[in-house]
Amino acid sequence: MKEFAQKVIDFEVPEGKVGIIYMGQAGFILKDGKGRLIAYDLYLSNCCEREFGFKRITAMLLDPEDIAFDAIFCSHAHFDHLDPDSIEGMLANGKSRVYTPQDGMELLEQMGIKGGIKIAKNQSIDLFGGEVKASFVFCDHGAEAPYAVGTVFEIEGKRIYFAGDTCYRPEKLVNPKTVGCDFVSFPINGAYGNLNEEEGAMLAEKLGADLSVPSHFWTFAEHGGDPAKFMEAAKKRDVNFMLMMQGEMITI
Ligand SMILES: [Fe+2]
Repeated sequence: MKEFAQKVIDFEVPEGKVGIIYMGQAGFILKDGKGRLIAYDLYLSNCCEREFGFKRITAMLLDPEDIAFDAIFCSHAHFDHLDPDSIEGMLANGKSRVYTPQDGMELLEQMGIKGGIKIAKNQSIDLFGGEVKASFVFCDHGAEAPYAVGTVFEIEGKRIYFAGDTCYRPEKLVNPKTVGCDFVSFPINGAYGNLNEEEGAMLAEKLGADLSVPSHFWTFAEHGGDPAKFMEAAKKRDVNFMLMMQGEMITI
């Protein structure tokens, strides 16, 4: 078990608050006031080097078996979001369930993993007796990932929006479900069908979240993404942003 796992377990989140941990790439862990842990798009391995030649150059903070998550979300089947080298280990505890769209379900099926729960754009699900709600919203990650979703979590009265992998489509990304959230994160790497730094800042301005956090950079040199460029663009637009360190934990 990695030392970081114990830090996640020990991370104290008061009732009425949500803990948000940035795990690098598009990955986050959410923790509610009852100690429930939700994994979102965790990339825990280095499988993209083997499969695509993209070497991971950020720390691997967790081993897949380290934490028995109460729910695991994978926004689409790309390996930096649904990590085929880690998902089996993450599910080995028998408690965790994985929620993923059609393409993720197909990947799980190829791996012989049963019990995944299919999600789709414009759907919502209730978790934990309705104490947490997840709504799956529009994102545009190109023709090769038509099932990819963005996700708005409603937890402890807060709205937390992960835009998912998406290009700049403000006319659809900005809508009553996504505007004015307490927290939003979005890619800024500007390649493979994703927002670049400037577009990330423009979207953040339109979304008007209390806190905007760029993600999807620095994991692979080939993917691009420069947080300094985002920072400059966000300052010009009066966006309330934060650059999170991999492994950083905040409470909102
Ligand atoms: Fe991605």
